[in-house]
Amino acid sequence: MKHDPKSPDTSVLPGGPRHVAIIMDGNGRWATQRGRPRLFGHHAGAKRVREVVEACPDFGVEYLTIFAFSTENWKRTQVEVAGLMSLFRRYITKETRSLSEFGVRVRFIGDRVRLDDKLIKMMNDLEQATAHNTRVHLTIALNYGGRDEVARATKRLARDVAEGRLDPDKVDEETLPRYLDTYVLPDPDLVIRTSGEARISNFLLWQSAYAEYEFIDTLWPDFRKDEFGRLCAAYGGRDRRFGAVKT
Ligand code: IPE
Ligand code: IPE
Ligand code: MG
Repeated sequence: MKHDPKSPDTSVLPGGPRHVAIIMDGNGRWATQRGRPRLFGHHAGAKRVREVVEACPDFGVEYLTIFAFSTENWKRTQVEVAGLMSLFRRYITKETRSLSEFGVRVRFIGDRVRLDDKLIKMMNDLEQATAHNTRVHLTIALNYGGRDEVARATKRLARDVAEGRLDPDKVDEETLPRYLDTYVLPDPDLVIRTSGEARISNFLLWQSAYAEYEFIDTLWPDFRKDEFGRLCAAYGGRDRRFGAVKT
């Protein structure tokens, strides 16, 4: 059944995370385990995204942010980088219709400057085509790095100060996030990293200051809806104190 993209679902998992961010890691190892080239793993990984996006309303997740390519991933071989860029173009072409029909609003974060013009245009078009949707807010981090984002934000903030639009005495912790790529998004409640690595690799550094984390062994191409649901349910049982003591 086609969903009216304008009407958001109400949460079916009370106390679940509103915003989940995922570091989709392990594609390369998944392929190597099968004796296949790393790009085979990236293609298998891209196929998993739809199931996770479409599971969001079932778990009350309104915002899903996925790490697709980091500012550090340019260090990989030219073959892998070119293959990934071509995969992103293919993904956008292939998924635009189903994302729109499901009511997904797509946004991209990261620095677009280093991406090729064709891909940038496809990203802009997808953002515009889905701008009226509200059921799931999918944010794709592409050429994204938390430090790079803070540096770019600081540059714009400094320019506003230099040109008299911002009073430096008024800068506080509410000011900087307005300059971040994520300025329209709530902070992530739950950050999941697949593949067994317990690090955040420059993902959402500012925004995840008080996120809950789940580091799981599953390689990204094996990540399924049931595991996503278990992690969202487990989040509901956590006691987020934000530095305070409950009385
Ligand atoms: C994550 O999988 C996808 C990207 C970083 C683009 P990896 O490619 O990092 O997979 P592993 O960590 O080598 O297994
Ligand atoms: C993080 O994974 C980036 C993405 C998932 C896109 P990496 O595989 O690049 O991270 P490291 O190198 O293991 O820290
Ligand atoms: Mg990796």
